[in-house]
Amino acid sequence: MSGEEEAPTQQQHQQPGQERTPDEPPPSPPAAAPSSSSSSPAAEEEPLSCRALVLTGYGGYDKVKLQVKTQRRARLQAGEVLVRVKACGLNFAELMGRQGLYEPLPAPPVTMGMEGSGVVEAVGEDVEDRRVGDRVIAMSRFGMFQEVVVVPADRTFPMPEQMSFEEGAAIPINYLTAYMMLFEMANVRPGKSVLVHMAAGGVGIAATQLCQTVPDVTVFGTASASKHETIAQGGVTHPIDYRTKDYVEEIRKISPKGVDIVLDPLGGSDTQKGFNLLKPLGTLIVFGAANCVTGQKKSLLAMMKTWYNQLSLNTMKLMQTNKAVCGFHLGYMAEDQLIDRAMRELLELYRQGKIKPRIDSCYHFEEVADAMRRMHDRHNIGKVILLPEPKKPGENVEKTEAADNKTKEEAATEEVKAEKD
Ligand SMILES: NC(=O)c1ccc[n+]([C@@H]2O[C@H](COP(=O)([O-])OP(=O)(O)OC[C@H]3O[C@@H](n4cnc5c(N)ncnc54)[C@H](OP(=O)(O)O)[C@@H]3O)[C@@H](O)[C@H]2O)c1
Repeated sequence: MSGEEEAPTQQQHQQPGQERTPDEPPPSPPAAAPSSSSSSPAAEEEPLSCRALVLTGYGGYDKVKLQVKTQRRARLQAGEVLVRVKACGLNFAELMGRQGLYEPLPAPPVTMGMEGSGVVEAVGEDVEDRRVGDRVIAMSRFGMFQEVVVVPADRTFPMPEQMSFEEGAAIPINYLTAYMMLFEMANVRPGKSVLVHMAAGGVGIAATQLCQTVPDVTVFGTASASKHETIAQGGVTHPIDYRTKDYVEEIRKISPKGVDIVLDPLGGSDTQKGFNLLKPLGTLIVFGAANCVTGQKKSLLAMMKTWYNQLSLNTMKLMQTNKAVCGFHLGYMAEDQLIDRAMRELLELYRQGKIKPRIDSCYHFEEVADAMRRMHDRHNIGKVILLPEPKKPGENVEKTEAADNKTKEEAATEEVKAEKD
């Protein structure tokens, strides 16, 4: 059996024009890419083939296909760079996107992926601060899950020397989100307390690490019990098992007045609970609707319940409670300067050893269904990474142990909770 046949995601061949590709790749010649522009006219004639993870329709894991796209090479435009991708970050947004629940992702067929890292293989005219061979982190609204991408040079960020490609791919979405919420919106300061939901997920771990850069910040973190030791080591002051305990009661036992900041990626009734938990002058930031997602397929019931239970407030009530409610969505953040500044700060924190992405597991493109399943089944602690490089025969995925020690009881609770929700 060949590697492709063994892979759960079957590799498909796609001809030019089959996919709607606005800012999608690739152009220039990987090997002989000159430093100032993309390619020679002869090389541009040659079609380029590139493995990509394409969302072919909304639904389950089978909707994400590994395809080989054969495209005409185009010259890089001014200000663009061609990056050979070494690692990509898988995000909760892609789980939602697969179900048709993530608006910024264009309709299928579309290549997924918002973040990655790799090596610059060619640069367009006017690009002065990136060179062929640079190791960079790259961001795009979509289209990062492929072997080569073309992105504006200003959406790339040079990687610190000691940073691995996996770590680089794990930085942008999770850390920018956590950074902007904590430092730009909630203005976290010494002595404050923060409730971090999904504390063992990518954003949760990033938020916990960033809280540690401020003295004397107390972090309440909700996560499955099997992940508590790891998140406590990572800086969560009070891990709470939201599956078996009422997290509001648990927090009130420790801090009767509640907390200063709530980061809410869940939505629905949890947003109401978060608002009620705020101390006066506290800030609630809503940044996700994970309660809408109960498994592989879209659940209309979960969506309706989340929508029905959402927080509904008027400005009078806000005034009378002395609380702030904010929303954050990186996918709608058009201010490049804010992103640049935050990325520079984050990379500096990495250099100083103050933040470090925790990589849960790495999967090859062929194994994208397993990667998504790991997040849906709530087994990950930290970031799930996708690798464009084909899987070698006999190679196995490395995973963190704690997450895999999840008890049967927890797995059962998960199913029951999904049913109830
Ligand atoms: N607004 C933005 O710009 C932005 C950016 C990035 C992420 N987000 C949001 O932030 C949240 C976390 O994203 P992430 O990438 O950090 O997630 P992640 O790494 O995939 O976290 C997954 C973990 O969260 C927990 N969890 C709780 N509810 C879940 C559910 N319904 N389905 C699956 N897992 C669930 C599970 O851990 P336990 O076993 O501990 O339950 C799971 O292992 C998501 O809601 C996402 O949409 C928003």
